[in-house]
Amino acid sequence: KIESVKAREVFDSRGNPTVEADVILDNGIVGRASVPSGKSTGDNEAVELRDGGDRLDGKGVLKAVKNVNTLINEKLHGADPFNQAEIDQMMIDLDGTPNKAKLGANAILGVSMANVRAAANCEKIPVYRYLGGVDLELPQTFHNVINGGEHADNGIDMQEFLITPIKRTSFRDGFEKIVNVYHQLKKNLEKEGFQTGLGDEGGFAPDLPSSAAAVDELNKAIKDAGYEPGAEIGIAFDAAASSFAQDDGSYLFEGKKCSPDEMATYYEGLLDKYPAIVSVEDPFGENDWDNFAKFTEKNGKRVQIITDDNVCTNPELFRKAIKKGMANSFLIKLNQIGTVTETIEAIRVARKNGYTAMMSHRSGETEDSFLADFTVGLHASQLKSGAPARGERLAKYNQLLRIEEELGENTEFMAHFPNDVDFD
Ligand code: PGA
Ligand code: ZN
Repeated sequence: KIESVKAREVFDSRGNPTVEADVILDNGIVGRASVPSGKSTGDNEAVELRDGGDRLDGKGVLKAVKNVNTLINEKLHGADPFNQAEIDQMMIDLDGTPNKAKLGANAILGVSMANVRAAANCEKIPVYRYLGGVDLELPQTFHNVINGGEHADNGIDMQEFLITPIKRTSFRDGFEKIVNVYHQLKKNLEKEGFQTGLGDEGGFAPDLPSSAAAVDELNKAIKDAGYEPGAEIGIAFDAAASSFAQDDGSYLFEGKKCSPDEMATYYEGLLDKYPAIVSVEDPFGENDWDNFAKFTEKNGKRVQIITDDNVCTNPELFRKAIKKGMANSFLIKLNQIGTVTETIEAIRVARKNGYTAMMSHRSGETEDSFLADFTVGLHASQLKSGAPARGERLAKYNQLLRIEEELGENTEFMAHFPNDVDFD
């Protein structure tokens, strides 16, 4: 039984306050988890409760912490930690709003994840095993090695430029290849006279002249590191187009006003020029469902098309997007919806409808590695958690290395893509 829950204010990788929660069972066993925070957030995300006022630039989370220590603590006293759905529903009911605005999704999610940990600790098994049982597989990982958009102060409009290991004999083998390309990329950028300071997700943040130049740097670094782009290492990008979408439906991209059709032509040009591109995220803004669907119809066979800001890990919005034919893959972020149970439901809806699910960190992260366990436990075939740099990003990848070691020889790789990419 749950004895009590307790939260505190800690800090994330951008130095902003966030919630850490403990769930304490009556046998003394504790589960702990902390909550990440995004920057390019969708309008339909659950509410991250911030204090406002002067302290810490208004970003304090003491109200959310208090909600955990008072209202949620009272409600969950005596509850069964092994009934995650019930625990989460109790908090949803206690909140009573459609977007967790009263208690804060940061308060609720902290407790929701900490409860999973407490239950797993009680059973003396790892979280991935508690959530996933047997037959577990490691995900296809995507590594954001050039940061732009709202994640960096450079002039690159698209937000993320990622690489993913395609040919590999183990998770470790694939990760080592990513590390090699990352280091090669740094050397190349230095040689070309660009800065190699890091952005929020651990990728470099060089002041490249364009988004296409960033894709080209990836393609080149893969080759220079001795790998074949496409066959051994794939490329992906997250345009996060909401960040350059205009109110009149156009896009202000690289200093030019572009129509949605012009943006589509631009993306298609990238796909033609760089066949190594296997995945495209948020090519259109979050209110531009029609153009998103049109782009999917035309290109959904040759590339994975992910929607993130439009649907915000919300199972209801997923159903709407599926009906509309928007994208063929969903990004999944626990804090966009605010409980473990609803996130699992979102993954279920995706899978049932033949959409892939890519689990995702946020640009503001903590050292908590819950996401790695959650990805493996949920058989969520893909994960993006940033570059192989910065502790809060490595926390997830290092945990995957440990999980692979524990799973041993029987480990399989998830390799489900909606297109025909032949993943090992
Ligand atoms: P965010 O970015 O965490 O800043 O929202 C991640 C993404 O857009 O995928
Ligand atoms: Zn995104």
